[in-house]
Amino acid sequence: MPKFYKFFLALLFTLIISWFTWQIPAAFAATESETSLRTLAEKRGILIGAAVDMKALKSDSKYGEVLAREFNAILPENAMKLILLHPERDRYNFTDTDILMDFAKTHQMQVHGHPLIWHYAVPQWLESGNFTREQFIEILHDYIKTVVTRYRGQIKVWYVVNESINRDGSLEDSIWLRKIGPEYIDLAYRWVHELDPEARLFYNEYSAEEVGQKADAVYQLLQGLIQRGVPIHGVGLQMHKDVDWSSAPQLIENMKKLAALGLDISITEMDIYIKEGFGNQQQALEKQAQIYEDTLQACLSIPQCVYFSIWGFSDRYTWAASWRGSQGAPLIFDEQYRPKPAYYAMQKVLRRE
Ligand code: XIL
Repeated sequence: MPKFYKFFLALLFTLIISWFTWQIPAAFAATESETSLRTLAEKRGILIGAAVDMKALKSDSKYGEVLAREFNAILPENAMKLILLHPERDRYNFTDTDILMDFAKTHQMQVHGHPLIWHYAVPQWLESGNFTREQFIEILHDYIKTVVTRYRGQIKVWYVVNESINRDGSLEDSIWLRKIGPEYIDLAYRWVHELDPEARLFYNEYSAEEVGQKADAVYQLLQGLIQRGVPIHGVGLQMHKDVDWSSAPQLIENMKKLAALGLDISITEMDIYIKEGFGNQQQALEKQAQIYEDTLQACLSIPQCVYFSIWGFSDRYTWAASWRGSQGAPLIFDEQYRPKPAYYAMQKVLRRE
């Protein structure tokens, strides 16, 4: 064969091989993002979100890649907590929250502010500061003003008060309650609204998904706020549950009741912890998937349920280990970012008519 033909054939062969090498993965990549939770949620006009672990975002590129592909909304797992944002009386630290805002902007994701007021994560300078009630009010107002003004127009949803109610329905004995009195709740919502009238203001609570004492107390708190003309627009149900949870009908009942108050609803912190001894691994993963499916389906069945968010997304990074003592694989991707049955269950629900 003449040299020229040999060269031509070699070139052709190389071109065909490189076409396949590029096209085949590209085809898979397209499929992955076409069927991502984000794409499916956007088709239905809902927000699907995850809490972001800043250490992971800064150090693990795969984390950011999956986050941006699968979700169109994020909230900071810890970065916006008082102890981190305002570690000393005369110092703020917005480094991480600014990184998060930039990430969201680059990937066209909404950021929800979480939380402005919580009884945990209160810095030492405030805890042991011996301030008067007036000073406490001033400190809280300054804090809210600094944070809300900084992100005005960018953060469209604020979880203003987080977990102010105990399991028995009484008010949590927080530093805010002790120093200011129960009116700290009204004050906070009014201030945020004054500072950013466009923002949607939510209340966020744990273990209020099932009907009962706690859900009733949350309902009464919200009803009271509405009756007093306090600007409140929605309520977040956290959804930290164990794999033996089976109260979806109660969740729906509660959501309907809250929606009837004129409030939007969100699932804010879903994770489903696999307790040791719950069947074999396959059974546990299937039951976990069923709970994700039922909860997302419950949210989609209520028009006012506008946001569905998971507390992380990969079992590689979950707060469960520090909270429960063992990892519990509570999320929808495994530690290698492989989708779990829970992920496919969510896809299925989002595709359902
Ligand atoms: C948790 C974080 O996940 C942990 O990393 C941190 O150590 C403690 O706080 N309810 C909330 C969240 O509203 O802010 C909490 O986040 C989990 C329970």
